[in-house]
Order: sequence, then C-alpha cells, then structure tokens
Amino acid sequence: MTALATGSNRRSRQRLKAMSTVVRTLGTWVLPWRLVVTPSPEPGSAPLVDWLEEQLGSRPLVGVKKTAPRANNKPVLVLLDADGGVLGYAKVGINPLTQRLVKAETKALGRIAARSIPGLRTPELLASGEWNGSHVLVQGALRPTGDQSWAPEELIPRFAAFAGSAGLATTPLRSSPYLERLRRRLRKHRAYVPGALGAELERVVTAAGDVPLTLGSWHGDWTPWNMGRDGDDLLLWDLERVKSGVPAGFDAVHYTLQSEIVRKGTPPLAAARSLLEQDVTLAASSLQASRRLLARLYLIEIGTRYCVDRQAEAGGALSDLGSWLLPALAGPLREEALHG
Ligand SMILES: Nc1ncnc2c1ncn2[C@@H]1O[C@H](COP(=O)(O)OP(=O)(O)O)[C@@H](O)[C@H]1O
Ligand SMILES: [Mg+2]
Repeated sequence: MTALATGSNRRSRQRLKAMSTVVRTLGTWVLPWRLVVTPSPEPGSAPLVDWLEEQLGSRPLVGVKKTAPRANNKPVLVLLDADGGVLGYAKVGINPLTQRLVKAETKALGRIAARSIPGLRTPELLASGEWNGSHVLVQGALRPTGDQSWAPEELIPRFAAFAGSAGLATTPLRSSPYLERLRRRLRKHRAYVPGALGAELERVVTAAGDVPLTLGSWHGDWTPWNMGRDGDDLLLWDLERVKSGVPAGFDAVHYTLQSEIVRKGTPPLAAARSLLEQDVTLAASSLQASRRLLARLYLIEIGTRYCVDRQAEAGGALSDLGSWLLPALAGPLREEALHG
C-alpha cells in the first residue's frame, strides 16, 4: 500500500493512509504474503474483503499490483481463490481522479462488450459499487497464453475495429466537434495547461482547418502492457479512458509512441519528433486523410490529459511537457505535409 501511494497527490496519500492495512502472514503455500484492506477503524465499517465476499459469493485472497508513480495510481487488487487461481481484479478509486476513472471503466466494460469487436476480448464486469465512499470495480481476469508477440498487420485491423466500433464521422477539422471540445477543455483547465499547447492547436487549425478529420472511438491507453494474446484474440484491459468522438487512429499513435519510449528506450523528444515528421507505421490504415495531422492532434490531446490529471505533481513519467512534447510541436509545421 505504501508503494501504491508513492508519488500520488497529497489527498490520495491521506486517503490511502486512512485505509489501514493489516498484513497477515498466513504461510507461503499460495503467496508469500496476504493483505486485508480495511477502512479506518470507525464503528460499523467493514473490511473491503467482506464487501468483495458479498459481491462474489466467496471470500477471495487479495494481492496488490505495484505500479509506477502516476496521478491515476490506485489500488489494483488481484483476487485469488483458495487454490491460488485468479478470480479477477478489483480497482478502487481513492481520490477524485481515480474515482472518476474507475467509474468510467465500469461503464466502458459494458459498452465495449456490447459492441463485440472482432479479434478483441475485454474483461467481464463481475461487480461494482460503493465501499466506504470509494467506487470499486471487480472484473474477470483475461488470461494471456502462449506467444505474446503481435505483427503490425495483426494490430492495425484491431485498432481500426475499435475505432469504428460505435461508428465513424468525418468533417473538416475546423468544424469538428472534437476541436470544439478540445478547445473547451483547454480553456477550462487553463490554470494547469501551458498556453503553448492551445497556441499549437490554433496553429494547426490555421494550417489545416480544411483537412477532413474522421472521428471514432479509442481505448485511450492501448499499450503493450495493457494487453495480452490468447490465440488470435487480443485481450485488452484497463478501459478507464475509453471515449468516442475522438480522431480515429489515436490508439495506433499512442501505442506507437509509448512503445517507442518505454519499450525501445527512445528519448521522448526524438520519439515525438519522428512521430510528427515521418509516417506513423501503425496508424497507416485508411482511417484518416492526414496521418501527420492525426499525430499532431494526438500530442496535443495527451499533453492536455497529463496537465489536467496533474501528472507532474504525482511524478508521472512524461509529465514534463517542456522537455519533449512542446519542443516537438514547436518544430516546423509544413502545411502541405498536413494535407496528406
Ligand atoms: N482484467 C484483467 N485481466 C488480466 N490482468 C489484469 C486485469 N485487470 C488488471 N490486470 C493486471 O493488473 C495490472 C494493472 O491493472 P490496470 O487496469 O492496467 O490498472 P492501471 O490503471 O493502474 O494501469 C495490469 O497491467 C494487468 O497486469
Ligand atoms: Mg494499466
């Protein structure tokens, strides 16, 4: 629990502290350690494991996934049966941001399952509700098996299927409802978002306002570490950021950039520059008239998210936009390149 709190904002740390954890060593035959997560010892408050037992019909053993510091850090609990088999995963909202994200994921699980996207499987929603003022989501476990590698030609149709799963609509960038919403977000959060980000957006609109922009859906954080493989099925979890009405192809660009930086170790500035200057291999589908416009809008979108989430305060990776994203966007903007 202490590890989960590291780097989170102060309120989330206080909230985590308030959730007293009692570690009971009960032997090493399933896990070397076990946890009981309980609310602060107020009269009448029950441990989370009681709530989970009520929802699942059996009492799970609980492990905690440890993740890097991020504003969106929250307890992600692995729920095990008595034989050590994974029953599912529980996510617990601990502050306004993570409450919103866990609630959003709860809704997204139902919505995406109903779309039955070919070649893709998402977790089953097992339970959700309030525990001690926190929103808790319990989802079934996806089980990657065998070879975990993916060829670009397998990924591209899956990105496209997700993007089109609730329909696609095309309008010029200038009159796009996406542009209107992004401008509104930038205005609303201007206390945290550098003015340079909004200025870059307006530069793009001036240069490429007439370019058609196709809107669709995205997972919002589709990366190699939020997915697995089971035969031909791509298993996709962490659906906190699912949205529609965004430029189709955002997932492909996000996957490409995040893999480049996190997996290949390319410095963020170099990775962002090559995203803008070259064709984005994985986004090379027929989703957009201009893949370079897509990449530019993606950087503005993700920069806005990092600022709105206050990632810098939480020590989130890539949160210092001035060291990579802003200088990449400030580079030459060749108008003709945005038109094709
Ligand atoms: N439904 C699931 N099936 C399989 N693994 C899961 C599932 N939910 C979470 N996990 C595991 O827990 C980790 C953290 O969960 P995730 O939903 O990615 O949370 P976060 O939002 O903190 O990144 C995942 O990377 C994965 O290893
Ligand atoms: Mg994740």
